[in-house]
This record gives sequence, structure tokens and C-alpha cells, in this order.
Amino acid sequence: MAKEKLRVLLVEDNPIDAMIVKKILQRDNAFEYEVVHLVSGEDALLKLENWPYDIMLLDYNLPKKNGLETLKEIKARNIEMPIVMITGQGDEQLAVTLIKEGAFDYLPKKENYQDSVPLMIRKTMMEFRAKLEREKLQKEIALKKEELEKTNAKLMELDRMKSDFVANVAHELKTPLTIIKGNLDNINQGFAGEVRLKQKEILGDVFKIINRLSRLVNDLLDLSKIESGKMELNREGLDIVALAGEVIKTFETLADGKKIGLAKEFPEKAVTVNADKDKLTQVFINLIGNAVKFTDKGSVTVRIIELQGEVQVEIQDTGPGIPQDQADKIFDKFARVVAEKKEGTGLGLPIAKDIIALHKGRIRVESQSGKGSRFIFIMPK
Ligand SMILES: Nc1ncnc2c1ncn2[C@@H]1O[C@H](COP(=O)(O)OP(=O)(O)OP(=O)(O)O)[C@@H](O)[C@H]1O
Ligand SMILES: [Mg+2]
Repeated sequence: MAKEKLRVLLVEDNPIDAMIVKKILQRDNAFEYEVVHLVSGEDALLKLENWPYDIMLLDYNLPKKNGLETLKEIKARNIEMPIVMITGQGDEQLAVTLIKEGAFDYLPKKENYQDSVPLMIRKTMMEFRAKLEREKLQKEIALKKEELEKTNAKLMELDRMKSDFVANVAHELKTPLTIIKGNLDNINQGFAGEVRLKQKEILGDVFKIINRLSRLVNDLLDLSKIESGKMELNREGLDIVALAGEVIKTFETLADGKKIGLAKEFPEKAVTVNADKDKLTQVFINLIGNAVKFTDKGSVTVRIIELQGEVQVEIQDTGPGIPQDQADKIFDKFARVVAEKKEGTGLGLPIAKDIIALHKGRIRVESQSGKGSRFIFIMPK
């Protein structure tokens, strides 16, 4: 295989030293060397105007401009070429200075130092090329990072626009919905004339739909408030056991109607948490509501366990369960997995998750398809 050509600039005022180096390089078979020999720093600086060299061997002890001065001037020109300094013996301090000024390495002029020149060149070329490769990669990474940051900023802006849009639409819907509901209520109560049975029936269906729509609008407003950081917590000392009990009561009729059990496993005494009552109630409604909604056989159990500095709440059911790969997704907006036949929008869990996060708590689900689900949330006390 043809050897790689290496252009070496040798700056050495001692002709015998230079000759020996050249000879040794001729015998070395790592590269095919093309050596240009100059005797002064001034000459080197002139030669480097066109910079066609791969490596430079620069003697420190030169007449007039010494090696350090020459090195500094070359470095000031941003020439990307490794420079190996040939120094006097035992001058470690000088070597440190040279490296600081940008020399790649140094070789002390010991007896027969010329023998080590090929090895030094090989090592230098390897390290220098690795360094270039590293720098190139680092630049590419920095560029990619910048691109990603830009894309991310754009996406965040889009997301914000979308949230604003949803919030505005929901807000615009809220007032007309309230008016529609009020008017329907007036009609239903007979303020606009007698209402016949059939009409009452139809009004009842319309009410159901309107109520669903208002719930959706309120959910969307809640979520956009949380997402934009505008949701504030009105914290107070609450007995979470009593609060859970109250919510459970409101689901009893529904559970009875479906012939499923609704059980509680609570501590004997109150467990106080520092939380927003309305928001925490919302979490219980959403979780127990889901459990009752999705369970058609068996029971729903709400469990409260007092831990060190925290309280753990579990809502367990014997419903259809959630496939493992969907367990994280269901906390995303509009994610509906097994519920296509059940009423809902897919906002209950994301709202619960956000409210719990606002309270510095966490929520997760343990479930298997066909084996029921257990939603677990933990809150600081
Ligand atoms: N207890 C549960 N058992 C089985 N699947 C559940 C249960 N809770 C939630 N899921 C699944 O997670 C999805 C998301 O729940 P989430 O409460 O966010 O929405 P939803 O109940 O469908 O609608 P919404 O709560 O907005 O009325 C549900 O559609 C259902 O697929
Ligand atoms: Mg729900």
C-alpha cells in the first residue's frame, strides 16, 4: 500500500542536526516524508505564508528570533498544524511555557535525540488528528443542539398558541352555555307556559348534553389554567379521610345502580393534609368516577394509608384494567384506551395528575388488562 505523504517543516540552525533528522526520516517507513529544512524563524514565517505543511519541528535555540517568538507568531496566524519544539536539555520550565503558548509537544535535545523524531511525529500526528476529529464532532454536536433548541422553542410557542386558543374558545363557550342552561331551566319550570310530559322528556335529554358540554368546557379551562401556571392553590389543613368519604357518598347511587360494591379502607382517625379542598375533591371525583364508570362487575375500593410525612391514596377496581403499554399514556390529554363505549373526553386523569403535581405529589397506575386497575397517588402531608 502506498505510504501517506507527510510534509514536514524542519527549522533547525545546526546543519548536522538537520541532516541526521532527515536521514532518520528517510529510513522510517511510517510515512513518506517530504522535509523542507530552514535555518531561522524568519524564514519559517515567510514559508508559512502558504502553509502547506502537516507538521513542524521547531528548534528553540535559533539566532535572532528564538523558537518561542516564532511559535507565538505562527499561533497568532491560526495555522492548524502541530508544532513540536526541540528544546535544550533539562529546561522543563521552558517546555511548560512552550506548551502554554500552543506547542503540541516538545523533544529535548539529548544525545541521539534524532532517533526519537519518527516516533514523536507518529504520536503527534495521531493525537493531533484525533483532536481535530474531536473538535469537529463537538462543533457538530453544538450545531445540532442549537437546532434542537430552536425547534423546541418553536414547538413551545406553538403549544402555547394552541393552549391559548383552546382557553379562548372554552371561555367564549362558557357564557352562552350558562345562558342556554338558564333559559332551558326557565322553560322547564313552566315560566314560558305549561310544559307537557313529552317536552319535559326532551328537555331532560338536552340538559344532560348541556351539562356534559359545560363539564368539558370547565375541564378545558382548568387544564389551560394549570398549563399556563395560572392555577393557584388555596391551601388549608384538610382531613383527607373525611373528604374522600364525602366524595364516595356522591357515587353510592351510581354504584348501587350498576350493582357494584363501593368500599373504603380508611385509617381510624383523621389524616390532615395541606391542600386545596376544591382541587383535591376534583381529584377524588375524577379517579373514583373513572373506577365506577369503567367497572361493570365487582367493586371499587378506596384506601387511605398514612405514611411518614405523606399520605397514600389508592383507588382500586375490578374493571377492565389498562394494557401495560398504555399505562403512561392515559395521563395525557384526550387519551382514551378501553373506554370508547363509555362517556368521557379523556381530560379527567390529566387534570388529576396536574393537580397532584401542583401539590408536589405523584400519581401512577398499576394495572393489567382484564385484572382491574389501582390508581395510587401520594401527597405530602
Ligand atoms: N379505572 C379505570 N379502568 C380502566 N380504564 C381506565 C380507568 N381510568 C381511566 N381509564 C382509561 O384512561 C382513559 C383516560 O381517563 P380520563 O379520566 O382521563 O378520561 P375519560 O374518563 O375517558 O374522560 P373524562 O374523565 O374527561 O370524562 C379512559 O378513557 C380509560 O381508557
Ligand atoms: Mg375520567
